[in-house]
Amino acid sequence: MEKYLESYKDKKILVTGGAGAVGSFLVKKLLELGSFVIVLDNLSSGYVWNLPNDGNLLFIEGDVTNDIDLKRVFSEEPEIIFHLAAFFANQNSVDYPETDLNTNGFGTLKLLEYSKIYNKLKRFVYASSGCSIYPSDAEMPYKEELTNMYMTTPYQITKMLGELYCNYYWKIQKVPVVKARFFNSFGPGEVPGQYRNVIPNFIFWAKLGLSLPITGTGEETRDFTYVGDIVDGLLRMGYFEEAIGEEINLAAGREVKILHLAELVNKLVGNEAGIEFKPRRKWDTKLRMLASNEKAKKILGFNPNPDFDGCLKKTIKWFEENWEDIKKSADFPPGMSSAVRNRSGKSS
Ligand SMILES: NC(=O)c1ccc[n+]([C@@H]2O[C@H](COP(=O)([O-])OP(=O)(O)OC[C@H]3O[C@@H](n4cnc5c(N)ncnc54)[C@H](O)[C@@H]3O)[C@@H](O)[C@H]2O)c1
Repeated sequence: MEKYLESYKDKKILVTGGAGAVGSFLVKKLLELGSFVIVLDNLSSGYVWNLPNDGNLLFIEGDVTNDIDLKRVFSEEPEIIFHLAAFFANQNSVDYPETDLNTNGFGTLKLLEYSKIYNKLKRFVYASSGCSIYPSDAEMPYKEELTNMYMTTPYQITKMLGELYCNYYWKIQKVPVVKARFFNSFGPGEVPGQYRNVIPNFIFWAKLGLSLPITGTGEETRDFTYVGDIVDGLLRMGYFEEAIGEEINLAAGREVKILHLAELVNKLVGNEAGIEFKPRRKWDTKLRMLASNEKAKKILGFNPNPDFDGCLKKTIKWFEENWEDIKKSADFPPGMSSAVRNRSGKSS
């Protein structure tokens, strides 16, 4: 086993947002590696059924903005924090900008402040969002230097705000921070819903025999990155000293067209309902997205899986294995829920 993976054995790790899509995958991996894992999650978009029953997992239902909950998790004396809790994501933040600021801004500030006072942390890894913070006119592939800060949703602003707090707590307060800039994560663990990413929603709708709605022309691209690769990048960030103070893209470094994705999902799931086109959302100004992962390769030895179709198949398999839980948890507005009910014969 590689050294960075071995280093997690017998370590106490705090994962905020550990019941979420990326968090639950990370928690499972940490438990496999022999860590003792503390999860702090308010279950606003995470699910306990997505976490294993394990004696080395301490689940605390609580909030990253709440002092009682924060004192409780810091009293466990974690060595590393993966701060993944967030109000997710763009459209949600457009609908509820204050909750977005409270969780993503104030919550991140509080965790960093507690980390400063606690003073025993080896690493604080912050889940930033590369898809959000690079401007729509940035040159591709996106490199880690920023050119401007015109953001199109409150979520993009607060994910950047989190980075700015990280910079202050690293430079001035010496909290050993790393900023992980995720790109379009997908994979087992992400439950579909009105505010969730396109891949779980396409799979969900395809399994229900519904047509797949594309908001735009379908020519748009995203740098979809398998959750197993994002988690591997996070584990590397928790280990390599060279990562401290840095902001590093975690991306596959590959563009996938939305039209291709929709056709592939329909084919793999066996859905014959096709595709429908809808108007692009007005904040959605990034027609293409491609990140550079050169810095992650250089500093972390990051090596993402190049097999997009294979990773998509693993995601579909997870849907099949967890279909009843997914159907119960999928969070869609009333019109959509009745479509789900009609197709599945059950309430969603
Ligand atoms: N999934 C992506 O494509 C993507 C891309 C870029 C960045 N990110 C970032 O990665 C992180 C994880 O994303 P995800 O896809 O797993 O999201 P997620 O919504 O599945 O997970 C977030 C978790 O945080 C919890 N949470 C929310 N508010 C909380 C609060 N106030 N206190 C405690 N827990 C709270 C939720 O219940 C959920 O379990 C987030 O910080 C997100 O901004 C994700």
